[in-house]
Formats: sequence, structure tokens, C-alpha cells
Amino acid sequence: MKPDETKPESAAAQALGWIDETTRAISPPLQPATTYLRDDDNQYRSGRIYARSDNPTFDQAEALLTHLERGAAAAVFSAGMAAATAVFLALKPGDHVVAPRVMYWGLRHWLLGHATEWGLQVDFVETSDLAALARAIQPGRTKLVWIETPANPLWTITDIAAAAGIAHAAGARLAVDSTVATPVLTQPIALGADLVMHSATKYLNGHSDVVAGALVTARDDEFWARLKAVRKNIGAILGTFEAWLLVRGLRTLYVRVDRQCRSAQLVAERLAAHPRISAVLYPGLQSAAGHAIAAKQMRGGFGGMLSIRVRGGEAAAIATAARVRLWKRATSLGGVESLLEHRASVEGAGSPAPADMLRLSVGLEDPGDLVADLEQALAGA
Ligand SMILES: Cc1ncc(COP(=O)(O)O)c(C=O)c1O
Repeated sequence: MKPDETKPESAAAQALGWIDETTRAISPPLQPATTYLRDDDNQYRSGRIYARSDNPTFDQAEALLTHLERGAAAAVFSAGMAAATAVFLALKPGDHVVAPRVMYWGLRHWLLGHATEWGLQVDFVETSDLAALARAIQPGRTKLVWIETPANPLWTITDIAAAAGIAHAAGARLAVDSTVATPVLTQPIALGADLVMHSATKYLNGHSDVVAGALVTARDDEFWARLKAVRKNIGAILGTFEAWLLVRGLRTLYVRVDRQCRSAQLVAERLAAHPRISAVLYPGLQSAAGHAIAAKQMRGGFGGMLSIRVRGGEAAAIATAARVRLWKRATSLGGVESLLEHRASVEGAGSPAPADMLRLSVGLEDPGDLVADLEQALAGA
């Protein structure tokens, strides 16, 4: 069977079933070369010239991501931030963009700083509120609507199909940071998005040992060519070894995310009833504002990320984090090990993260062990 006749789980497990033609190896070779031989008649028939444009070690990761996201093409980048900022750098000074109030703080910071200084007009709105999103659009001037769903660190949900309709009606593109949903749970392109972005540092690689980013496009068009040119011109390319590790990580994506969703749901439900917790933020809880839309656009689970608000304020939250034994106090998310952090300390001024909130990234440990560790940490709160 060809990959497009099988389920995505099968395509991922075999990384599209590619076999190295030279050696018949079932895992890809690493190709570290920076340059390629020119033909004796001065042509480059191999299609490759120099490794800042592309690298054969990217091919399998990009083909697999294109397949899993049901896109037309993909490009891997040196970081999620490199992939995200490339989208904005492919716009022109004076263009208007709409971005979410709740989003990955590093990108919000860059949009408020560099992007604004460079001449982009950026408005931040609550994109889960479709009326507010529609009001923020400036027809003819808005070139891009950026959403993130579920959105870091409150896990708010934006309706992708509706946001695509609003963006397209105004002639703007819709880009979705789908880092937390992963292609396992959501395919934004099938819902109308023009671009999907991933911090591949997170679930796609999944082992907390690679920094990488990815973009997938719905169409191989002129804007995509601009994006690829940004990657080449600013040198935002992934290292060879990182690309190779990314393919290895992608092979287990479906089992990891499936387990992480089930464990996160269990942790969320157990903590929702905990007397020392005032709120659990997780789209899988029926009480979550975005639950119905999440259930519509996420299939097979609600992701591995949740946040908890600890009664007693900031000091109680930080003290709870200090008492965990199995969870690791560290930033980042989407790895095999469960991580927890006091998010307001990371994001600083302007963050939507409440001071009493801990962000949890659920890994692959036994879910009962994870709950027990949180319960013993909360017991001293
Ligand atoms: C949702 C989201 N988008 C983008 C990024 C940026 O990715 P990277 O750290 O790979 O540059 C992150 C990183 O934490 C993230 O969580």
C-alpha cells in the first residue's frame, strides 16, 4: 500500500516507508555536505547547489509533515521561532496583521518589538471571540491572521474554520500555530488554514533534545516561495543531525500524543476536584469555554497541556512547584518527561498567565504516578 492509502499512524511509523536507495537501509542517511558538484557543462542537474537552500536530510521530514498535515509542501526551520517569524518577514512593512491575545509569549514579544519596529501593524485580539476577531480585520490592509489553538498558556481554543472564513473574506491568509494540537489531533489546512506552524522542538520531535520548527502550506504559491526565500536568506535552516532526529521522533508521534492526551485528561479531571486548586485550564474538561469547539476540531484527545491555579496565590504556586519529585521544573513542553513551571515568572509583564498558575506538560510516565506526585506537592500548599 502507498502511504496515501494508509492511516497517518502508518505513514508516521514508517516515515513514509522510505528506503535509502544506495544501501537499502530503512532509516535515512545523514548528509552533512554544504555544497554540491556542478555538472561539467556548468549545470546543476541534481537540483541542489548549496545547503543553506536545502539539504537532502530535510526531505523526509518535510514530506512526512506535508502528508500528515495534508498540505502541499513543508519546510523545516532552525526553531519554531524561525518558522513563525519567517511568516511575518514574508509580509511587507505597512501590512496589518491580527494576532491572539493569548499566544506563545516569545512570538508576542517579537511582534511587539522587532516586527512593529520593522513596520508591521499588529493588533492583538481575543481570537476565541470571533466577533472580536472580525472587528479587528481591516479589509484590504490585513494580510495575515495568526491564531494558536490550544493557546499557550491558558489553552484557549479558536475555531479554525470560522477564523479562516473571516480572514479569507477580507483577502487575508490564516496561519495556525498548531504546536500543541499536532497533526495527530487537528489538521488546520483541512479546516481552511493557509499555513500551519509547529515548534517541532515540542511534540513532533518529542524527546526534549532538538530545537526545530516547521511550516506546512496549503498551496505551493508565490507566498510560499517568499517564505522559502526568507529561510534561505536569513539562514534559518535546521542542522542535519536535528533533521534526522526529527524524523526519528515523528515515527512515534501518534503513540506519544495518544498517551499524553489520555494522561492529561486524567490529571485534569483528578485535579479539578482538588480542594487546593481553584481552576484547571484544559480544553478536555466539559467546563472549559472552548470545549465544544475543541471537540469539533480536535480528534482523539485534547492535547497534553494543561494549567492549574493553586489556591493561596503566587507563593503557594511556586512552593507547590518546589515540592514535585517526579515532574521536572523546567520550561518547554511536548517531551516524553512531564514538565511543570510557574509560567508568569517566565513570561513577565504583559503575560495573560495568572500569578497563581502552574503550566503542566504531561509526558509518558504512569498517569497515577503523575497525579500522586502533584497531590503530595499540593498537600503542603
Ligand atoms: C506554541 C509555541 N509556539 C512556538 C514556540 C517557539 O518554538 P521554539 O522554541 O522551537 O523556537 C513555542 C516554544 O515554546 C511554543 O510553545
